[in-house]
Amino acid sequence: MLLRLALGVLPFVGSALAQAAAQFTDPDNGITFWGITDAAHQVTYGYVFPPLATSGAQSTEYIGTIVSPIDNKWSGYALSGSMISSLLVAAWPNNGKIVFTTRYATTNVLPDVYTGPVITTLSTGTYVNSTHWKWVFRCQNCTTWTGGSIDVNSQSSVPAWCSSTIAVDNPADPGTSMVQHTDFGFYFFPFAEAHVTASVYNNWASGGTGGGTTVSTTKSSTTTSAQPTGTATPVDYIVVGSGPGGIITADRLSQAGKSVLLLERGGPSTAQTGGTYQPAWLKGTNFTKFDVPGLFESMFTDSNEFWWCKDITVFAGCLVGGGGAVNGALYWLPADQDFSTSAGWPQEWTNHQPYTAALKARLPPTDAPSTDGKRYLEQVSDVVGQLLNPQGFRNVTINNSPNDKDHIYGYSAYDFLKGKRAGPVATYLQTSLPRKNFQLKLNTYVWNVIRNGSTITGVQTNDTGVPGGIYPLKPGGRVILSAGTFGSARILFRSGIGPTDMINLVKGDPVAGPLLPPQSQWINLPVGYNVSDNPSINLVFTHPSVNNYDNWANVMTPGPPAADASQYIASQSGIMAQASPRLNFWQALGATDGVTRWLQGTARPGAASWNTTYAFNQTQMFTITAYLSTGIKSRGRIGINAALNALPLVNPWLVDPADKSSLVAGLKSIVSSMPAVPNMVMITPDNKTTIDAYVNAYDPSTMNSNHWVGSNIIGPAGKAVVDVNTKVYNTNNLFVVDASIVPTLPFGNPHGLVMSVAEQAAAKILALAGGN
Ligand SMILES: Cc1cc2nc3c(=O)[nH]c(=O)nc-3n(C[C@H](O)[C@H](O)[C@H](O)COP(=O)(O)OP(=O)(O)OC[C@H]3O[C@@H](n4cnc5c(N)ncnc54)[C@H](O)[C@@H]3O)c2cc1C
Ligand SMILES: *[C@@H]1O[C@H](CO)[C@@H](O)[C@H](O)[C@H]1NC(C)=O
Ligand SMILES: *[C@@H]1O[C@H](CO)[C@@H](O)[C@H](O)[C@H]1NC(C)=O
Ligand SMILES: *[C@@H]1O[C@H](CO)[C@@H](O)[C@H](O)[C@H]1NC(C)=O
Ligand SMILES: *[C@@H]1O[C@H](CO)[C@@H](O)[C@H](O)[C@H]1NC(C)=O
Ligand SMILES: *[C@@H]1O[C@H](CO)[C@@H](O)[C@H](O)[C@H]1NC(C)=O
Ligand SMILES: *[C@@H]1O[C@H](CO)[C@@H](O)[C@H](O)[C@H]1NC(C)=O
Ligand SMILES: *[C@@H]1O[C@H](CO)[C@@H](O)[C@H](O)[C@H]1NC(C)=O
Ligand SMILES: *[C@@H]1O[C@H](CO)[C@@H](O)[C@H](O)[C@H]1NC(C)=O
Ligand SMILES: *[C@@H]1O[C@H](CO)[C@@H](O)[C@H](O)[C@H]1NC(C)=O
Ligand SMILES: *[C@@H]1O[C@H](CO)[C@@H](O)[C@H](O)[C@H]1NC(C)=O
Repeated sequence: MLLRLALGVLPFVGSALAQAAAQFTDPDNGITFWGITDAAHQVTYGYVFPPLATSGAQSTEYIGTIVSPIDNKWSGYALSGSMISSLLVAAWPNNGKIVFTTRYATTNVLPDVYTGPVITTLSTGTYVNSTHWKWVFRCQNCTTWTGGSIDVNSQSSVPAWCSSTIAVDNPADPGTSMVQHTDFGFYFFPFAEAHVTASVYNNWASGGTGGGTTVSTTKSSTTTSAQPTGTATPVDYIVVGSGPGGIITADRLSQAGKSVLLLERGGPSTAQTGGTYQPAWLKGTNFTKFDVPGLFESMFTDSNEFWWCKDITVFAGCLVGGGGAVNGALYWLPADQDFSTSAGWPQEWTNHQPYTAALKARLPPTDAPSTDGKRYLEQVSDVVGQLLNPQGFRNVTINNSPNDKDHIYGYSAYDFLKGKRAGPVATYLQTSLPRKNFQLKLNTYVWNVIRNGSTITGVQTNDTGVPGGIYPLKPGGRVILSAGTFGSARILFRSGIGPTDMINLVKGDPVAGPLLPPQSQWINLPVGYNVSDNPSINLVFTHPSVNNYDNWANVMTPGPPAADASQYIASQSGIMAQASPRLNFWQALGATDGVTRWLQGTARPGAASWNTTYAFNQTQMFTITAYLSTGIKSRGRIGINAALNALPLVNPWLVDPADKSSLVAGLKSIVSSMPAVPNMVMITPDNKTTIDAYVNAYDPSTMNSNHWVGSNIIGPAGKAVVDVNTKVYNTNNLFVVDASIVPTLPFGNPHGLVMSVAEQAAAKILALAGGN
């Protein structure tokens, strides 16, 4: 019964380091553990430690739990992350009870039974039911062993888990022989965070329940809430929000050696972040909804849309990766024009090339995301290419020449890697996580920054596990808001920064009001003004060559066609390895006011809605979405309402008449060569409705492209919210790095530009004197 493979020989790098521990509460006993549920087998591993000793030796015990589906025969762990010369703990169910063992190995053979640790099963929460086995236990003399130990005050430990679908040889015998685990993995675990007070710990360790940090108590509402149990170590940089802006900024700051705390209000997304949400057809794989590109369209049609921010009235992603975890992932390297002074950027930002190059090196775009390099479902590319060729369009690889944006088309490009959603989560975040000076905390909602006049000292969160919910900065530290166009603006309002009407709404809120600084310290800046979003209009067509892929309606349930599903699972190739778009194109448009505007087209099989009285064949349906981009003059305003929900206050679409006439001209130009494409029919608008009438009647709320920028616009003092270093005016150490600082929309979907912005902002912030 040899163990095939040693955990100890594997380096703790790359995808091996997949998940990060987070706090969770055991519903059976109220114990707040820190741990993970491994994405592949849905086994939960959790630990909680007694308080850190301030002098003398640390306590050597902890309370642990393993919760496992019944089809998993045994599970174990090594808190050291190594199988060799480590204390190994394993458990399995037998006749309704849990049997456990402690083992130790010096070579890759069946580990010997190891004595010394004292394990006591805690009865409340330990059981075997029809679907799971669950073990809660106290492990004494368990953090040190012959030749090894764990550092219970570490911010960056990497424990290992292992599990097996093959039962041990004699389940009744703790000393049984067993074949080695059938799977294992590692995760990031800040042991230093997973401590509770002595009274709470002792209560649990002796079989008591409740009283933990996130357990609802029966105390009267006049008493203080549950006692904070963690400590919040001051850091050099707190970055708020793990979207494209926040992840990249946090990675570059931590790479430079700064201590960085990245706070994210949402939970996991892709499997690599600990996410587990997946359709039935992916059961048994570790691919989540967020991993599989072909599930993009289902983001809008799922019954369980937990990923959207529920307190923002337009689509915004509230989970690890932010919008980047739920978007179409169309990825355009920015053009020089996108960072020009005419686009509103300060002169100091126009040399974006080194930052864009750094981005491209970390996260290369691809227009053939299927792992076999083949392209699938490309009929729409061919049809739309045929449509555009007579108009003088050229067929190019779009990201090979980002400045080339007039009369060009090419395959849609994405930041997918290895056939999966990637973006900054799969790249930059993975280099941050192993760093000792980097910490990611999920499910932590930042309400406001804490400031004394112009100096920020920390952030106020909803985390009941740290004193006052406050995460402090070191002296000389800085806070960077990367909570998105709506999220960062709201944090500023709640911090007494922005237009007075918005801050007064905060003042009226029973929770947020008392947290505002005194009115004498309010900072009046145009937060929320200057926003833009691409107005977009859909044209729906049919062509006999097209396969609409059932409008993507079945990709979650019951699932894509069986062959496509199995191809994806086997090799991350095929139709499901790409989001819906198949072709993108750009053209410059003249306008009545003499200002050139650009139109971006995105073509995809299927349609979300259509309106025609003629009969047509749905299978042959496809959509061209036309976005007005560079040159847009229309601006809107975003803000909050009395419930502190974030929302558009003044819609930014086609307010400017020349924006509207340009877009209409662009739509007419797209369809002008339809006669050159045999059997191509436009069904929305159909031939009873003119383009002008169609645009006039178009519901403005459906012109939203989810590309909001500008609420914390960069620019000159007196006109803008942040300065050339992305520092909020009239503050010493508050910065914003996300889509909200972008002064005008780029040529294409914006997150490629936002990522280059983050690369450049991080460099400017690091170079700026006066901070850590
Ligand atoms: C449905 C949809 C489709 C899109 N498609 C594309 C596309 O195909 N291509 C493209 O380029 N762009 C696309 N976009 C736009 C793109 O996703 C955004 O421009 C981009 O995500 C903006 O990045 P960001 O870092 O500014 O903010 P976000 O991505 O919004 O990230 C903000 C993060 O901060 C967190 N947060 C917010 N408030 C708080 C708080 N108070 N405390 C703690 N954390 C907080 C959020 O949970 C989130 O993780 C799309 C957007 C949407 C919504
Ligand atoms: C703790 O375990 C070690 C083995 O790791 C053993 O040598 C020691 O005696 C144990 N101590 C106690 C107090 O049980
Ligand atoms: C069995 O216990 C697990 C773990 O607590 C729980 O998630 C599951 O719902 C239970 N199953 C049944 C059938 O009660
Ligand atoms: C997902 O599973 C595959 C195959 O088992 C493995 O190679 C990959 O590392 C896993 N990814 C994660 C994030 O666990
Ligand atoms: C565009 O060029 C690519 C190869 O560079 C080719 O595969 C594709 O068919 C062309 N598209 C059209 C519409 O001609
Ligand atoms: C804080 O807010 C986040 C996001 O809304 C939520 O998931 C989390 O449970 C909250 N934490 C507490 C302690 O209420
Ligand atoms: C706030 O800052 C002022 C100086 O600007 C200082 O005198 C004062 O002590 C600070 N207050 C707190 C509570 O830190
Ligand atoms: C609809 O179009 C598809 C694809 O071209 C074709 O296979 C099917 O026969 C058509 N259905 C009808 C009713 O014409
Ligand atoms: C559908 O089109 C007709 C004109 O053909 C128009 O009168 C009607 O308002 C449209 N319906 C919707 C929902 O757009
Ligand atoms: C309008 O479109 C319908 C259906 O596509 C077609 O049958 C009809 O001939 C068209 N009428 C004109 C005048 O083009
Ligand atoms: C932002 O909007 C405000 C209010 O409309 C305006 O005064 C200001 O000039 C704008 N800022 C920039 C940089 O365009």
